[in-house]
Amino acid sequence: MENLQREVFEKFESYGQGHIFRFWDELNADERLNLCRQAARLNLAHLSEIADALLERDRDAQPKPEVSLLPANYIGLPSDETTLCRWEDAYNLGEQILSEGRIAAFTAAGGQGTRLGFEGPKGTFSVTPVKGKSLFQVFAEKIRFAEKRYGYPLHWFIMTSDRNHNETIEFFGKNNSFALSNVHFIRQGSLAAMDAKGKIMLEDRCHIAMHPDGHGGAFRAFVSSGSGAMLEAQGIDMISYFQVDNPLVPAIDPYFIGFHGKNCSQISSRMVLKTYPEERMGIFCSMYGRSAVVEYTDMPMERAVERDRSGSLRFKAGNAGIHIFDRDFFTLLGSKMGGRQLPLHAAKKKIPTIDGDGKAVDPEVPNGIKFETFIFDALQFAERSIIVEGNRKEIFSPIKNSVGLDSPETCRRDQVRLFAKWLISAGSDIPIDSTGLPPFNIEISPLFADSERDFLVKWNQLDKRPAISAGSHIC
Ligand code: UD1
Repeated sequence: MENLQREVFEKFESYGQGHIFRFWDELNADERLNLCRQAARLNLAHLSEIADALLERDRDAQPKPEVSLLPANYIGLPSDETTLCRWEDAYNLGEQILSEGRIAAFTAAGGQGTRLGFEGPKGTFSVTPVKGKSLFQVFAEKIRFAEKRYGYPLHWFIMTSDRNHNETIEFFGKNNSFALSNVHFIRQGSLAAMDAKGKIMLEDRCHIAMHPDGHGGAFRAFVSSGSGAMLEAQGIDMISYFQVDNPLVPAIDPYFIGFHGKNCSQISSRMVLKTYPEERMGIFCSMYGRSAVVEYTDMPMERAVERDRSGSLRFKAGNAGIHIFDRDFFTLLGSKMGGRQLPLHAAKKKIPTIDGDGKAVDPEVPNGIKFETFIFDALQFAERSIIVEGNRKEIFSPIKNSVGLDSPETCRRDQVRLFAKWLISAGSDIPIDSTGLPPFNIEISPLFADSERDFLVKWNQLDKRPAISAGSHIC
């Protein structure tokens, strides 16, 4: 321990970060060991580059030159015979790719879910209207539906972070992995939070304030866990990526897979229409000839409010957080080019810390900076990428906040509306209001069908169709 201690102390001093050991004399042996080990794991050279960039940016706080920003092109929903044919072709190709076993699923579930105010891993949050299934169970059922349909077990990667890794694994253990055999948990990296002067912050006397390194950490976590090599050995060359917060996501979607395959894309992305200028959605734009997502925090409001001649928002291609990656592209970003090459985004946050006397401080205003890389910044490295529209009511209803917009309540209603729409398309006469919402909760398990198309086939094959009433669960 003494050698490790000396080495770590010297290193931190040389990088101007020796202050993290200022309570050393007051710590017991276990606390010292803990702090020392945590400190030894930090990549100080990388953190120092980040701190320098941060300070330089603040010194040089000149207005940024106006970036040439245009709305991104995308493949729209079918609107006539020709486009309908194009979507049907994509579907058929997607089905073929799926039957060849070339797809794995990936869920980004390492975030902290601060806005929802839920303590556990977000994927364990109960979301469905009748059965109260967790987000993880909904995704698991979608994957099981695909396994049954295409006849082989799919790999499902779940990216966790230090904060929720063990709890996530425990949850799957308790639920027998929802009857799936190929679930892999890969842990993303973490970074230390810094104050405005580039000094690493302490969470308490013996812990550095750490946070997950952003979903861009997926690339490195994937490669270092050996997942890329495993998929390569099995001939799986496409990764269907989605966020943990959206139970409507078409996790394994033949249409989207077909478009991706047809265009030999390295990253394909799903967009949905943004509904109002202030909506907290990243926007697909075209910057210097390549697609990019401009995060809602970075989109100038004067651009966000622009409208076209038809009155629609000009920058309307909202990022749904759904992508398909080419496996080689994914592994390249996690190895040779290094996740570090993705730009770092700094965000001012309220970071629980301690004051000079070691007393806990629960800040009311942002007091520190967190750094993250974003998965969609991979777009700037892609030679070939496409963006495909999704019908928002069918594929997107995320849970972000505890109440109000994008909350469990709006998500419950969106699920019930969607299930009612499928039933009505199949000839059911359940009552609905002007927004398409029935007066009671119903639920359709993804094990029965995961899209309207599948539902109609399955429903019409039933010898005896169940009567639909309050609390119906079709599975
Ligand atoms: C995100 C997108 C936004 C998009 C919106 C759609 C970012 C930066 N922005 O916004 O463009 O329109 O979703 O719903 O993602 N996560 C990790 N590890 C991390 C951080 C996040 O796995 O270190 C996961 C979260 O668990 C979640 C997803 O990434 O599944 C999105 O993160 P979140 O912070 O909720 O993004 P939003 O601000 O909602």
